[in-house]
Amino acid sequence: MAKPSKTIFVCQNCGSTSPRWQGKCPACGEWNTLAEEADAAGPPGTGLSRRGSGRVIVLEGLRGSTQEAPRFSTGIGELDRVTGGGIVPGSALLIGGEPGIGKSTLLLQLAAALARSGRRAVYFSGEEAAAQVRLRAARLGLDDAPVALACETSLATILATLEAGPPPDLIVIDSIQTLWAEAIEAAPGTVSQVRAAAQALIRHAKTVGSALLLVGHVTKDGQIAGPKVIEHMVDTVLYFEGDRGHTFRILRAVKNRFGATDEIGVFEMGDSGLREVPNPSALFLGEGKDRAPGAAVFAGIEGSRPVLVEIQALVAPSAYGTPRRAVVGWDSGRLAMLLAVLEARCGLGFGDKDVYLNVAGGMRINEPAADLAAAAALISSALDMPLPQGCVVFGEIGLSGEVRAVGRAEARLREAKKLGFERALAPPQANGKVKKGDVALTVVTRLTDAVERISQNRY
Ligand code: TYD
Ligand code: MG
Repeated sequence: MAKPSKTIFVCQNCGSTSPRWQGKCPACGEWNTLAEEADAAGPPGTGLSRRGSGRVIVLEGLRGSTQEAPRFSTGIGELDRVTGGGIVPGSALLIGGEPGIGKSTLLLQLAAALARSGRRAVYFSGEEAAAQVRLRAARLGLDDAPVALACETSLATILATLEAGPPPDLIVIDSIQTLWAEAIEAAPGTVSQVRAAAQALIRHAKTVGSALLLVGHVTKDGQIAGPKVIEHMVDTVLYFEGDRGHTFRILRAVKNRFGATDEIGVFEMGDSGLREVPNPSALFLGEGKDRAPGAAVFAGIEGSRPVLVEIQALVAPSAYGTPRRAVVGWDSGRLAMLLAVLEARCGLGFGDKDVYLNVAGGMRINEPAADLAAAAALISSALDMPLPQGCVVFGEIGLSGEVRAVGRAEARLREAKKLGFERALAPPQANGKVKKGDVALTVVTRLTDAVERISQNRY
């Protein structure tokens, strides 16, 4: 007798399952994300009965003939950089991002660039009507590119269409959350639908050797499954991020089976779509070289390239009982640590002050090397003393107040020099790395040195 089909509750954020409905997902802690779905996996143990149909395969060693994964250039330099040198045929990429950030724009530009260079690009839009996509293409000046476009949400139809024609070089699915597979009893966008659609498309792409690009919306409310639930299935995961208030967007690789994962690509959203920004430092620096108190330029490394970013701090007397700490673009835990070190090791008190820290331009910094720059901005604001003109800062800070060496000091200094900076506040290691005539170094070994120098304007 066939068992009645079971239902389970699936978290639409992380995909974990639970036999009962709960308000909060026990795995990822998100609220209101559990939705009832049919248990597609069936009762446990059914897989075992099929053991008889398996065949014996030859097991191989690690050494053997291999080839470097062949790639093709996307025609968009920043995208090539993020993917590790181009797109690998037969690979699956996921581009996640909030709605409205520019994913469709980027992928239309990519499809058009490939189509123009003679490759076959197919674009399936499940969110917009053909007229809308055409309108965008016309606005971007891409309407002459031979992209094959279809507005379709049925997985079966998409697969049938793909199987009927010659295999394209690139298949774009915008977005995976709009697709539905008839065989699955769940609404489009739920975890089981998204998983099934992604699995079928990836299998097809690998079989015919097409590169597959899936768009996945990042959602906060949990009504539709986020890209997290298919991250493990794809070869490359890229996140498109940026601040709505700013024009530029950062494409960040968070997983890449074919390249480095810390790489970023920088784009600027304009009237005619996304434009590449090959030299991001100029973008993230505030206007002019005059430095107000509370501003410090951090010489950072994003992926393989150096990027200068302005860090701004404001330390102001607190009007209310509990002082406020607000951070944009940096880790709030890291700020708490810095404030504690400044209080305990340098005697600067922040207990009755509001502290605001902002990374200019909407950039997000993850490097610990930004500690000293953030600290310099905080010290400068607290003492109302500006840092010297044309000065960059980098270095990691330890809990005992020591300033630690960081990687790639030379590249940081070279970038600073290139952009007209003449001085650097840096940890000891950078000393031997600069040649005469380069950036002048002010070496700080302890955070108290930095406080002393900034307060006395001595460099
Ligand atoms: P879109 O690619 O539709 O975002 P997503 O697919 O991630 O939801 O981009 C939408 C935003 O980009 C929209 O707010 C308008 C803006 N935009 C421009 O500023 N310039 C342009 O040339 C285009 C096409 C879009
Ligand atoms: Mg879109």
